[in-house]
This record gives sequence, C-alpha cells and structure tokens, in this order.
Amino acid sequence: MAEGVYSELGCCIVTGGAGAVGSRLVRRLLASGADTIHVVDDLSSGYKWLLPDNPKINFIERDVVEFFGQQFDAPNSHIFHLAAFFANQNSVDHPLEDLHTNGAGTLTVLKWAAENKAKRLVYASAGCSIAGHGIDAPIREDMPVSLHLDTPYQITKALGEFYCNYYLDRVSSVRCRFFNSYGPGEVPGAYRNVIPNFIWLAMHNRPLTITGTGEETRDFIFVDDLVEGLMRCAVIGPAHGEAINLGTGRQTRIEDLANMVIELTESTSAIQYAPRRSWDHSKTRQADISRAEQLLSLAPETSLDVGLRETVDWFREEYDSIARSSDF
Ligand SMILES: NC(=O)c1ccc[n+]([C@@H]2O[C@H](COP(=O)([O-])OP(=O)(O)OC[C@H]3O[C@@H](n4cnc5c(N)ncnc54)[C@H](O)[C@@H]3O)[C@@H](O)[C@H]2O)c1
Repeated sequence: MAEGVYSELGCCIVTGGAGAVGSRLVRRLLASGADTIHVVDDLSSGYKWLLPDNPKINFIERDVVEFFGQQFDAPNSHIFHLAAFFANQNSVDHPLEDLHTNGAGTLTVLKWAAENKAKRLVYASAGCSIAGHGIDAPIREDMPVSLHLDTPYQITKALGEFYCNYYLDRVSSVRCRFFNSYGPGEVPGAYRNVIPNFIWLAMHNRPLTITGTGEETRDFIFVDDLVEGLMRCAVIGPAHGEAINLGTGRQTRIEDLANMVIELTESTSAIQYAPRRSWDHSKTRQADISRAEQLLSLAPETSLDVGLRETVDWFREEYDSIARSSDF
C-alpha cells in the first residue's frame, strides 16, 4: 500500500506504546510521518528504553483508566488501544487487575474517544479469545462467540470487543484479533510468550520447557507484519466495524519452534516437557487470514526463519537492557 495514505494519520494515541507491539508501532508511525504520538503507558509490562528518542513522542506514564477518565485535549486522533494486562496466565493469577486494565481500561478509552471525536480506534483483541477452544483450525472471524472462555484475559479481551461494538455509532473502531506476535521488542518474562522465553533460555544454555507434548501448534506472526495490519486498520474505510484476524495462516509445532531456536542460537539447551497448563485447552491455533487479505490487502511477508533470526539479533544487540529488565 502506498505510504501516502498514512499522511492523514495526524495526531495518534498509542496506549501500551512502551510494550512489545506498541513500541514497534510507534517506530512505524514515526517513519510514516505521524505529527504527534501520545504514548500512554504505566510501564507495568513495558519499558521506556524500547522507544526511540524523538520529539514527536509525548510519553505519558499513567494508568489508562485514570488518564482517560480526565480531560485530555487531543481531538480527532487515531487511537491504537494496545494497553493490556498481559496475558492468560497473569490473568489467572490476578483476575481483578486484568479486569481493571482490559475491561475498565478499554471502556474508559472508548468513552474518551467518543467525547473527543476520535477518527478511529484500533483495538488489540486476541485470536485466542472469542471463539474459545475445541474448534477446528483455521479460526474465522465469523465463528460464534463462546461463553466458555478459558481465562479471565480471554473474557476481558472479548469484553473489549463488546464495548467497541456498543460505541460503534460514536467511535469508528476495528477489532484486530492478534495471533501470537513475536519479534524485536518483547522482553522475556514469567508471563511472556514462548518465543522470547525460548530464545533467552537457549542463549543461556538452559533447558527449554514445553508445557505439553510439543505437538501443539500456534500461528506466529512477526511483529512488524502485525504492525502493518494495525496501520492499515487505522486508515482503510471499509475496515470500520470489522473484526480482523492478524496472523499468518500457518501453524508451527512448538517442538519444531524449540529446535529452530536452539539451532539459531547455537545452544546446547535440552528440551524438557511439563504438563499443559490447566487452563490451556487449545491444541492447535491458526488464523484464517482471508478477511485481512481482502479488506487490507495484507500478506504477512516474514517467514518464521527470517523473523526468528531478526529477533535473535535484537536479543544480542540489546542483551544488557534485556538482562536488566527481565525477571526470567
Ligand atoms: N503479543 C501477543 O502475542 C498478543 C496476542 C494477542 C493479543 N495481544 C494484545 O496486543 C496488545 C499488545 O501486546 P504486547 O505483546 O505488546 O503486550 P505488552 O505487555 O508488551 O504491552 C502492553 C503495554 O500496556 C501497558 N499497560 C498495562 N497496563 C496498563 C495500564 N493500566 N495503563 C497503561 N498502560 C498499561 C504495559 O506497560 C505495556 O507496555 C495487548 O493488548 C495484548 O493483549 C498480544
């Protein structure tokens, strides 16, 4: 898509902009010529060092519920609402904190968006939510909504989608259902995704623990491909009101992933197995990406091999910052 379409972006707000995806999105917005980017992030799972030094970034270190519950003058903005309590296991351990950010946070941002005539709100929903488990891959956006979701996080991600639809006559929104994002910017940690954690463990020749048999699959999308989808959702008119999967349409076995990481990091790590987490009932996960192809002309370009290499390079370059930040 021609870069010129992004000239209409003007003032942008990125909630959760110091996070793994948000920080890459902020870089992409800067490269596309956005005027001002207000980043609202309480740094609970994000890091300021992930953001570039740039006078166009207005960094606001605040909780989204508090901040958007008050007056803030930024009319006609494009909002990327990425702030979230991350993710499934964290929400199982801390369900009320999850409800605060993902439930009250999304509602407060939407209410503010309606009152301040936001041009569009792009909501970070989750491919692991909405349709629940026990469904055949690939997951389509029009599958029925499940009332038997597996974690508080999946419930509050779905809740955010309900709120987006409730406000649709006042706030133009797009519900982006992210599959597993990975790439530069994600610091490993107890509650983080499998790829950064495998890379960090492999770099230290520690065992890589698979929770399951290793046959389980996920759909891993490189962060910059996902960010491209978010950019398009902000500016493409017909995306209004839609739910759109952002994945690759490809499944990767977790055991294959572990072996790829071990090879790329030239690690001597062993692979070990632990029981599946009690809430994790999804054996396979794969996005049907035909809606993203049709509405956004989006084709995720980065192969897992190339994306993992780029991620490992980032881990080597940022080793000291990651080591200081990670609890892993
Ligand atoms: N990464 C994935 O694989 C994935 C998959 C599905 C959905 N998502 C969604 O995408 C979004 C971005 O994910 P991510 O991987 O960048 O996560 P992340 O944890 O790196 O980023 C979330 C950011 O939100 C901030 N935040 C948390 N609570 C806040 C609050 N109350 N007020 C203000 N800021 C707050 C954190 O400090 C962090 O910087 C999230 O909404 C997440 O639920 C991500």
